[in-house]
Amino acid sequence: MLFVWDDSCKTGITEIDQDHKGLVNLINDLYEAMQDGSGGALLLPIFSALKHYTETHFTKEERYMLECDAPDREEHVKEHKMMMAKLADLESRHRKGEAAISLQTLTFLRDWLKNHICVVDQVMVANVKEKLDGDIQQG
Ligand SMILES: [Fe+2]
Ligand SMILES: [Fe+2]
Repeated sequence: MLFVWDDSCKTGITEIDQDHKGLVNLINDLYEAMQDGSGGALLLPIFSALKHYTETHFTKEERYMLECDAPDREEHVKEHKMMMAKLADLESRHRKGEAAISLQTLTFLRDWLKNHICVVDQVMVANVKEKLDGDIQQG
């Protein structure tokens, strides 16, 4: 497993935590597909799931930040955009038949996700909880 979920990175907002766990699972799926050599056939559906999942999740977070007028919104959105571009680039390189995804790339994705979920999103969530308390499902 490439990324072991750690409850200390929970945000306490139910839908966001569910999304984060889903993203961690997809990164692990990508890693496993590469490890067992069946990578080629399995990578594309994992890529599209990752793209869809990140898009939906980032949009959700960005809407929250807008509603809260979060002070760090601009920087946070920039990080989301960077990751979307990275995934799109990886997918298109893969479609063109360029070599399998390297371990270095996977490590990059994992480290980005870990830092984003455990550090960057935590700042956002503190804001959201403060301003939208009662309108969000927490657990
Ligand atoms: Fe997030
Ligand atoms: Fe985020």
